[in-house]
Amino acid sequence: MSKISITKKTAWSLILSINTNTKYKTKRNIIEISEQSQKNTLQIRYNRKKNYIEDTNINLKKDIENLFHIFLPIVCFQGKFQYIAHIAQSLDGFIATESGESKYISGKENLEHIHRLRAVSDVIIVGAKTYLEDKPKLTTRLVKGNNPLIYVFDPKRILRKKDIMGDIVHLRDNLDEMKKTLHDKERQTIYIEGGGRTISYFMNKNILNKIHICLCPIILGGGRPSFIPDKYIALNNQKSFKPNHYQMGNDILFDIEIN
Ligand SMILES: NC(=O)c1ccc[n+]([C@@H]2O[C@H](COP(=O)([O-])OP(=O)(O)OC[C@H]3O[C@@H](n4cnc5c(N)ncnc54)[C@H](OP(=O)(O)O)[C@@H]3O)[C@@H](O)[C@H]2O)c1
Repeated sequence: MSKISITKKTAWSLILSINTNTKYKTKRNIIEISEQSQKNTLQIRYNRKKNYIEDTNINLKKDIENLFHIFLPIVCFQGKFQYIAHIAQSLDGFIATESGESKYISGKENLEHIHRLRAVSDVIIVGAKTYLEDKPKLTTRLVKGNNPLIYVFDPKRILRKKDIMGDIVHLRDNLDEMKKTLHDKERQTIYIEGGGRTISYFMNKNILNKIHICLCPIILGGGRPSFIPDKYIALNNQKSFKPNHYQMGNDILFDIEIN
């Protein structure tokens, strides 16, 4: 195939089209992607099982290749519910200071990545403490794409009626209830954006399909931890992951497939 050079914006539009186009929701391992972009037909033969582009007429510059490598497995996911978490942590494993400051541990490239994760998701879940302390907007304002529905995870019921703004859904700890409220689509991507307690809840229950850990070159020396296990596991019984990793400005993103 002769190669077509595209911008990151075009590559992103292609990923969004794949995410919403039902013709790619196939059980096959090889997905033939073909989408019109201005005068060009962009084509990718994607091996979902290996997360590998077998053939394409797109010129795969590093940034475009990375974008496909991170997002094609997400938008080609097979299964009804897909759970993805992202957390940015210091080199010594903290996501915020003791007093709760976390803006911004990671740099602008990672912030843009977070907005992309929101844009391919149907639902975003944040913990009640994050919601109350950070007052995050949880929009996709840095990239093209729709805002997901917002669920606030609040098992200790610390949110009052007055805290709940707009269309936000107040989620206790009943995930089945959440699943019931999601409209009937073939696939639902549920994105958990923190904090550590909330991500740990999903991790400990073995619900996560994928986690993105952004390692940021700062040392906090203490603060709020990224992961809080619910039981002791001896070191030689700890699961070891095989992550892919990507440079994002000065940060490194670890992309870890769990289930
Ligand atoms: N660096 C990042 O990527 C990032 C992203 C998002 C947020 N943050 C930061 O994270 C901090 C908040 O995180 P957080 O971990 O303290 O709280 P959180 O995840 O935002 O909120 C979790 C809430 O659920 C409650 N909870 C009770 N039982 C739980 C259980 N079994 N599992 C999970 N949650 C349970 C927690 O109460 P208790 O804590 O009282 O048990 C808390 O009220 C903020 O400072 C925010 O700025 C950082």
